[in-house]
Amino acid sequence: MSAVRTVAASNTQILSSLQPPLHVVVGGGTSGIGRGIALAYRKHCPDAHVTIIGRNQSAADEILSQLGPNGNFIRADLSLMSEIRRITKQINAVDVLVLSQGILTFTGRTPTKENIDDKSAVSYYGRVLFVEELLPLLRSSPHGGKVLFVLNSKRGNPSKINWNDMALENNYSLLAVFNHGLAFTDLVIQYLASQPENANVSFIHAFPGSVRTPIANGLPFYLRLPAKALSAVGWGISPEDCAEFMIHGILGTEKGWRCIDEKGETVPNKEVSDEEMLKKVWEHTCEITSRTAQ
Ligand SMILES: NC(=O)c1ccc[n+]([C@@H]2O[C@H](COP(=O)([O-])OP(=O)(O)OC[C@H]3O[C@@H](n4cnc5c(N)ncnc54)[C@H](OP(=O)(O)O)[C@@H]3O)[C@@H](O)[C@H]2O)c1
Repeated sequence: MSAVRTVAASNTQILSSLQPPLHVVVGGGTSGIGRGIALAYRKHCPDAHVTIIGRNQSAADEILSQLGPNGNFIRADLSLMSEIRRITKQINAVDVLVLSQGILTFTGRTPTKENIDDKSAVSYYGRVLFVEELLPLLRSSPHGGKVLFVLNSKRGNPSKINWNDMALENNYSLLAVFNHGLAFTDLVIQYLASQPENANVSFIHAFPGSVRTPIANGLPFYLRLPAKALSAVGWGISPEDCAEFMIHGILGTEKGWRCIDEKGETVPNKEVSDEEMLKKVWEHTCEITSRTAQ
């Protein structure tokens, strides 16, 4: 059997017998990796309640038709902290929270009406606020709460953080946004896992690999076309296969925090960061997520 078939068989074996059925919430569940994960949970665990979140109603309708009566869509702009506070109040139970919302763009700093750069708002700050708002439900999960950040767990490096300008208000560049997003995610999962009240929740940062999704559609044509050509010749894996590895990684994480690779296995040699660093990232994150529109 191929690696993905082995992993999928193991996922079915574990998930099909779970009682009570899971409540799964997927940010960015209307496309790509998030869509794949939402549908894979439905396949392995037909009684699971799966909620997908995004902005695209027609994409959501297509997925809902496959999710069946236990599927749900919440329409929201996840770049806005106010919106995240509003919609998380509509969620009553969650065992698995997947954060796969993201954009790929080469435009410079583009502030939301809450004055947060949209890329960081979607891929980092909004994700953390999402977790924070749902932590009470995750802590009381009968299965043990699981949180999966889909980003890039292989490249985060705390030495690339600009500690004097963590919001990059004076030192903005796309590379710096990328470096901060990855390193902050590595550190924030460690911070959250270190809090005694979160002992029943595990926090995972994943690298999904190269996955054939529409994420490159937002790029200028001279970058979009090569990406499409690579995809057409079979470069990368399908979102469905990626979903199996991501779920394998979730199921293989018992407690605490973990970085997983594209096969759902532990990323080796991840450094444990010191408490002071974790606290700094947490305090900075809370300062940004508490922003409201002017
Ligand atoms: N694909 C890859 O090869 C790859 C590799 C490494 C890392 N990743 C990371 O994996 C994550 C998922 O990527 P993907 O390839 O699955 O992308 P995708 O197919 O483009 O999906 C992105 C998802 O994010 C949602 N989203 C974006 N902006 C949003 C907003 N403002 N409000 C609400 N939802 C929003 C989209 O929903 P709507 O369109 O409905 O708003 C969509 O469901 C991203 O963080 C990406 O950086 C991907």
